[in-house]
Amino acid sequence: QDADRAKIIEAHELTAKLYHHVLNNTKQGQTAKQYLRERGLSDKLIDHFMIGYAPEEWDLLARFLTNRGFDLALMEKGGLLSAKTDGSGYVDRFRNRIMFPIWDRDGKATAFAGRIIGEGQPKYLNSPETMLFTKSRTLYNLHYARPAIRKSKQVVLFEGYMDVIKSWSAGVKNGIATMGTALTDEHCAMLRRQAEEIVVCYDGDDAGQAAAYKSIPMLETAGLKVAVAMLPKGKDPDDYISEYGPEAFLRETIDQPVSVTKFKLIYSRKNHILLKEEGRKNYLLQAVEIIAELDSSTEREVYLKELSREFEISLDSLKQDCYQKRQELQKKKPQGDNNDNSWNNGRNEK
Ligand code: GTP
Ligand code: MN
Ligand code: MN
Ligand code: MN
Ligand code: MN
Repeated sequence: QDADRAKIIEAHELTAKLYHHVLNNTKQGQTAKQYLRERGLSDKLIDHFMIGYAPEEWDLLARFLTNRGFDLALMEKGGLLSAKTDGSGYVDRFRNRIMFPIWDRDGKATAFAGRIIGEGQPKYLNSPETMLFTKSRTLYNLHYARPAIRKSKQVVLFEGYMDVIKSWSAGVKNGIATMGTALTDEHCAMLRRQAEEIVVCYDGDDAGQAAAYKSIPMLETAGLKVAVAMLPKGKDPDDYISEYGPEAFLRETIDQPVSVTKFKLIYSRKNHILLKEEGRKNYLLQAVEIIAELDSSTEREVYLKELSREFEISLDSLKQDCYQKRQELQKKKPQGDNNDNSWNNGRNEK
């Protein structure tokens, strides 16, 4: 079993080099290379992330691995090859795709993500889960980002590989991403071991914002201090950097994350039609609920004042509603839950 694992890793390392070589030095790789250039990836960046190209041919890798004496059945188990349906052998799993090696925590390639060139479905094809690759426990770029995460105690969570790569070139050395699958409690625990703070920087579309909303309580439960870097509607970090440049990206998003409360207020606001009285009322009620979760009465007051000014509601009535919501929250809390700093819960209140 250990021997199998070592062979699968060796094969992935060689395959990453092969695909990288095909991208950089062959005629077949030219279209892919051009595509990456148009997306703003320098040669240096392509080298650093060992980005490659798996050509059209259906058995380039199968032959390559055969020539080096690898057992093809094992390579199929490792996710590099697919068994032919008629049982007569193996073909390459990835064809005509841009290849991103996925590394484990030690920096060994154990899987790939393959992107189609241009439009088409599926946009990304990932390696299957294997004895070496579990999506729920893998974070893209963690091995490269670890020193910067440890040093700053902070990590930036992106949605996609390209976001991590482009942000890296913009100077964000502590960025990571999940495998396109949802964030898991295992991911959160892994991150908590390296960092104290996390900045969630998901795409500025509905899916991205909903995913950010979902991930917040998981990250908080793991003990991370969460902030959210927001992007304009419909843009992801990679789009933003291409369009406005790296300095603007750092200045306007990464270095200006909003608090979880602010994010939730913005999120809730988008789901209500504020031009209608009903929508306005419902937003206000939800906003007060969000603010009531804050343990600091000063912070609560800051947000309530903002609401009071904007919606021309007296601060007194907002405070009263907030107080009520806090009492409901207290009742819902399980007994003996002491992991907050709410030494004055319910007291010092109007
Ligand atoms: P680009 O279009 O190359 O910039 O990718 P993106 O990261 O912006 O893609 P998107 O925002 O659509 O998706 C975010 C992440 O979800 C990707 O980086 C992938 O990890 C994953 N993902 C997207 N599309 C697919 C797909 O078709 N299949 C799988 N397995 N994962 C996907
Ligand atoms: Mn190279
Ligand atoms: Mn997206
Ligand atoms: Mn995206
Ligand atoms: Mn993108």
